Amino acid sequence: MALDRPRALSGIQPTAGSFHLGNYLGAIRQYVALQETHDAFYTVVDLHAITVPQDPAELRANSRLAAAQLLASGLDPDRCTLFIQSHVPEHAQLGWVMNCLTGFGEASRMTQFKDKSAKQGADRATVGLFTYPILQVADILLYQANHVPVGEDQRQHIELTRDLADRFNGRFGETFTVPAPYIVKETGKIYDLQDPTIKMSKSASTPKGIVNLLDEPKVSAKKIKSAVTDLETEIRFDEEKKPGISNLLTIYSTLTGTAIPELERRYEGKGYGALKTELSEILVEWVTPFRERTQEYLADPGTLDKILAKGAEKARAVAAETLALAYDKVGFLPAKP
Ligand code: TRP
Repeated sequence: MALDRPRALSGIQPTAGSFHLGNYLGAIRQYVALQETHDAFYTVVDLHAITVPQDPAELRANSRLAAAQLLASGLDPDRCTLFIQSHVPEHAQLGWVMNCLTGFGEASRMTQFKDKSAKQGADRATVGLFTYPILQVADILLYQANHVPVGEDQRQHIELTRDLADRFNGRFGETFTVPAPYIVKETGKIYDLQDPTIKMSKSASTPKGIVNLLDEPKVSAKKIKSAVTDLETEIRFDEEKKPGISNLLTIYSTLTGTAIPELERRYEGKGYGALKTELSEILVEWVTPFRERTQEYLADPGTLDKILAKGAEKARAVAAETLALAYDKVGFLPAKP
């Protein structure tokens, strides 16, 4: 892999089951594009997943499911490194070093922890959930990533990564690349179809508001057709006054690569029904092969596991080198003198 390319790393939770349209248009599409410009690493973060209780059989199935969907989306194991986080023990090992560099107060200020632990009841939240962001720091620093493609909600974790990289480098000498966040703006946010003022998310609204990519295409088409809009008739992008129509235009535009002003022109004088019908057809056309490809990977777990084993091997080559350097800087004796 070309060394002159910047490195990118991102982590994907294996807990979602089916990806939804918001995941795909917000993040995954970008992972696919970054294969062309970056030396890209993508990891299914099963170590992070167990910071909240997981059923073992379900976790295993969801890790394969996440990997299968990433491959079906267009991640190419020859052009990027796709692996399962627990297959690369260096993540936990560097995570420990980073734990020892993080202030207790600093970790306490992480808002995602505060939100998640509040949901669970503060005394039931695990120490693992508390140190979750620090493991994420290790994920990123192990690969000397320049860019970390993530959603806006991860900005604070990237800031922590930068702080800890600087702190380690300052204390022990230049070791880690200080990464930059890489947040997609325009297509970053797809909204709920039933409540277009909130982000499309598994936990957010009724199932009718979310397009799951592995659902029967007919079901997804129906959800588009019954998306909440407004009482006007004009098809115009206006996120404030017309959040529902604007969301449909964003989805249409990102799926087809057609600019929104062009769509506004094309639908001038036509009703919401026409937009919804055509968008639902486009969605069905796109989602059908996605489902087929995912099912092919799942039907052949042997091949899938081989792809992941190869990914882990490639990842480990990089991670082991960084870990050895960090261990040495910290003052650990060499294991193999
Ligand atoms: N915390 C990220 C999320 O919830 C997942 C993640 C884990 C991650 N490790 C990462 C993202 C490293 C980017 C880089 O989406």
